[in-house]
Amino acid sequence: MDKIKVRVPATSANLGSGFDCCGIALELYNVFEYEKIKSGVEFVGWDKAFANESNLAYLAYKAVCDKIGVDSCVKITIIDTGVPVSRGLGSSATLICSGAYAANKLHGMKLSKEEVFEICTELEGHPDNVAPALFGAFCTSVTDMKGNPYTVRTHVSKRIHFTVLIPDFEVQTHDARAVLPQMVKREDAVYNMSRVALLASAFKSGSGELLRIVTRDRLHQQYRRPLFKNIDEIEKCAYECGAISFMISGAGSTCLCLSTKMIEEKLNDKIKDLPNGWVAKELKISKYGTKEVE
Ligand code: HSE
Repeated sequence: MDKIKVRVPATSANLGSGFDCCGIALELYNVFEYEKIKSGVEFVGWDKAFANESNLAYLAYKAVCDKIGVDSCVKITIIDTGVPVSRGLGSSATLICSGAYAANKLHGMKLSKEEVFEICTELEGHPDNVAPALFGAFCTSVTDMKGNPYTVRTHVSKRIHFTVLIPDFEVQTHDARAVLPQMVKREDAVYNMSRVALLASAFKSGSGELLRIVTRDRLHQQYRRPLFKNIDEIEKCAYECGAISFMISGAGSTCLCLSTKMIEEKLNDKIKDLPNGWVAKELKISKYGTKEVE
């Protein structure tokens, strides 16, 4: 096999209380083609700024090739980009996971899925997006003292509707982390710990009542909200349209609503004249994660 097309889903990290450890995969996809070539690295369809050896898709491809002990000469072509960039929907995880998966597949599947996950986590810096991007569904992840990641994948109930609200502005993860306090109050830590302990089972059960409680958070979103233009107004509209829960997706700028019925149309109607170009889009859970496609 000399070439492969790889599809990777968008991901939404944190889910409120699961700061830096939980994430879900959503049915919005980036697709890349990887082809072995005789020498060097080539990029097709990329902006000039990304067509170089610092490209995350290439770095992940190369990291897997280096670990297997084979050369990493490759042509990387963008086939489809459904995942918006710098919007808190895991676009960088799609690059990393596609590169690592493609390299392993094109070189005889020499690495286990755990080893591929380790390489992806090291490149991304944390596992909360790469775990669901690789494995699909809802993933709760942890890293040990040496930085090795572990994840548990949980099925998500079909009773829950996921609606992302995507604005026209970006929030950089670096800025969204810079506003977080170094120390948190014990009662805030306990508030989140007790909720995240029930988060996976709440998504599995699809209980709206439980999800309404366990997705709340005191560790990050209150500090980040000032970076989001008209978020209060958008949140109010979401609740008025029937959302049971409203949260920042990853570090933003996208927000995510949970509901037990479809709210996309009503919500778009309500927000269409508000500033900052917010658009609501219902997305299903992606069960499969990173996958070879035709
Ligand atoms: N968990 C990260 C954060 C987002 O909230 O900063 C993942 O990119």
